[in-house]
Amino acid sequence: MRALVKTVLGRLRLATTNARRRYWTKRVSRTAASCGPDLRANSRTIVTPKTHIGRSANFNGMVITGGGTVRIGSWFHSGRDCLVISSFHNYDGGSRIPYGPKGEDIDKDVTIGDFVWLGDRCIVLGGVTIGEGAIIQAGSVVVSDVPPLAIAGGHPARVFRTRDAAHFEQLKSEGKFH
Ligand SMILES: CC(C)(COP(=O)(O)OP(=O)(O)OC[C@H]1O[C@@H](n2cnc3c(N)ncnc32)[C@H](O)[C@@H]1OP(=O)(O)O)[C@@H](O)C(=O)NCCC(=O)NCCS
Repeated sequence: MRALVKTVLGRLRLATTNARRRYWTKRVSRTAASCGPDLRANSRTIVTPKTHIGRSANFNGMVITGGGTVRIGSWFHSGRDCLVISSFHNYDGGSRIPYGPKGEDIDKDVTIGDFVWLGDRCIVLGGVTIGEGAIIQAGSVVVSDVPPLAIAGGHPARVFRTRDAAHFEQLKSEGKFH
């Protein structure tokens, strides 16, 4: 009896996970300005109509806000609860305090390269470019550009190391990525 309950619960869990993935993947691909094949959004992922996504991108929970253009490369992976903020409220030039109304927001584009991996709970601010193959540590706030292959983290995120470029290029040239 216990084994049967376990099996049924396991199947239910799997069905729920698959349904969640189907729902968010469809929602992202319908909202984004463009989206390559093989997208996977495993949990709540909200993008803007100015978001462009490459092929085989993997989201595990992300919210993109604002009016800036956001470009996310191919074979991108993100952890849970990530945030990309592509508009800033206009506080010094706005017509109201504490900041101008929505129409006065300042949009800033974000570019995230191919093979980038964002750890859990990363925040990426507008105006930032994250280079190909970079890794951002969990809980980081990325406020300035991160070069390709860098491993960066903290608040504000700083580069503390570069990943093994030879290893990265070898696997890339052999098509060994997901
Ligand atoms: C990116 C990551 C994998 C890099 O791991 P690593 O190469 O082994 O790096 P280390 O653990 O050696 O850390 C390097 C330094 O950054 C610090 N550090 C590690 N993770 C950190 C974080 N999330 N924020 C701030 N600093 C961090 C370490 O203490 C270390 O500092 P030190 O040199 O002063 O001792 C790891 O930092 C990380 O964030 N892992 C979690 C990824 C994640 O979210 N996974 C789940 C969803 S995909």
